[in-house]
Amino acid sequence: MKNININICVRVYSYEELTDEDRALVDEAKQATYRSYAPYSQFNVGAALRLNDETVVTGSNQENAAYPAALCAERTAIFYANSRYPDHPVKALAIAARNKSGVFTDKPVAPCGVCRQVINETENRYKQPIRILLYGRQGVYAVNSIQDLLPLQFNESDME
Ligand code: THU
Repeated sequence: MKNININICVRVYSYEELTDEDRALVDEAKQATYRSYAPYSQFNVGAALRLNDETVVTGSNQENAAYPAALCAERTAIFYANSRYPDHPVKALAIAARNKSGVFTDKPVAPCGVCRQVINETENRYKQPIRILLYGRQGVYAVNSIQDLLPLQFNESDME
C-alpha cells in the first residue's frame, strides 16, 4: 500500500487585497448575479470569464420549472464563451452569489461537480490553467487551476 498525497493550495484574499485585474473580474461576476433567472431557488449566481485577449464574458444561473433543465452560471458563461469565441482560451473565472435575502454570501460559493468537470474540459481544450476566484463577503478564495478543485479528474487521456 502507498499513499497519494495531494497538495492543494487555496489562497484567501480580502476583496481589497485583490489585484485590479482579479477585482474587476469579481465585480463582473457580482454584476452578473443581477441577470440571473432563479425564481425557484432564489439563489442568484454570477460567473465571469476573462479570455486571453482580455474579453470578459459573463453568465448567470438560468432555472426552469422542470428543475433539471436549469443551468449553472459557470456553464452558462463557459458554453457561451466557447461557442462565441472558440479560438480564445479562457484564463480566469470568477464566481459570486446572492442568497434569498439578496445579499452576497459570506462564504465563497464553489462550483458544483458538473461545472468543475466542464472547467476541467476547458483547461484541457486550451491547454492552459484557469485561475478561479470564488467571492465571499468574508474573503475571496483563489486557486490557479481546476486541479485544485477537482483532483484525480477524468480526462480524454483516460480513455486511451
Ligand atoms: N448554482 C450555480 O449557478 N452555480 C453554482 O456553483 C452552484 C449552484 C445554481 C444552480 C441553481 O440555479 C441554484 O444555484 C441553486 O442550486
